[in-house]
Amino acid sequence: MQAGAAGAVAAAATGLVDWQQTHGRPRRVGLAHALVNSAALGLQLTSTALRRRGRRREGRLASATAWGVMFVGAYLGGHLVYRLRQGVDQADRSVEPRGFEPVLPAADLKEGQPRKVEVWDEVERAHIPVALVRQHGRIFAMGARCSHMGGPLDEGWLLRGGLGCPWHGSRYDLKTGSSR
Ligand code: FES
Repeated sequence: MQAGAAGAVAAAATGLVDWQQTHGRPRRVGLAHALVNSAALGLQLTSTALRRRGRRREGRLASATAWGVMFVGAYLGGHLVYRLRQGVDQADRSVEPRGFEPVLPAADLKEGQPRKVEVWDEVERAHIPVALVRQHGRIFAMGARCSHMGGPLDEGWLLRGGLGCPWHGSRYDLKTGSSR
């Protein structure tokens, strides 16, 4: 039990580091995941204490409840990774576009103000967010999801030919898309 508790504390520490980088829904789900897992750990510790005092029946009940709570925590953890894609590679895997597609009148794109548009991706069968930027009269386009944790690049800032992510500051070259 002690080893399990130590492992849980270590997992919580790494989870806390990841959670500090999250925003919006992943942040809320991450908080719920942490609270539920903490409750499960508390129940397991309670179970151990009860058994040590000879109250085996109550101890078993606390342990069984902990397992149930732990399943909820595991479900939330899986949801964070597989649905909300936290802690996984966020790089855009859509195939390179073969041609140009009109998305808005050029006059609607203001100099130095990134803007998001949605483009239909035939391979993914989904709309892909794209960030458009007009700088010094030239127009650039790149996937709008930051490859770090999916931050909205269209809400970012321009600096020395790059588009910065508003969440943690990664910067992408406007011409090549590579990170700097
Ligand atoms: S999401 Fe972290 S730098 Fe963009």
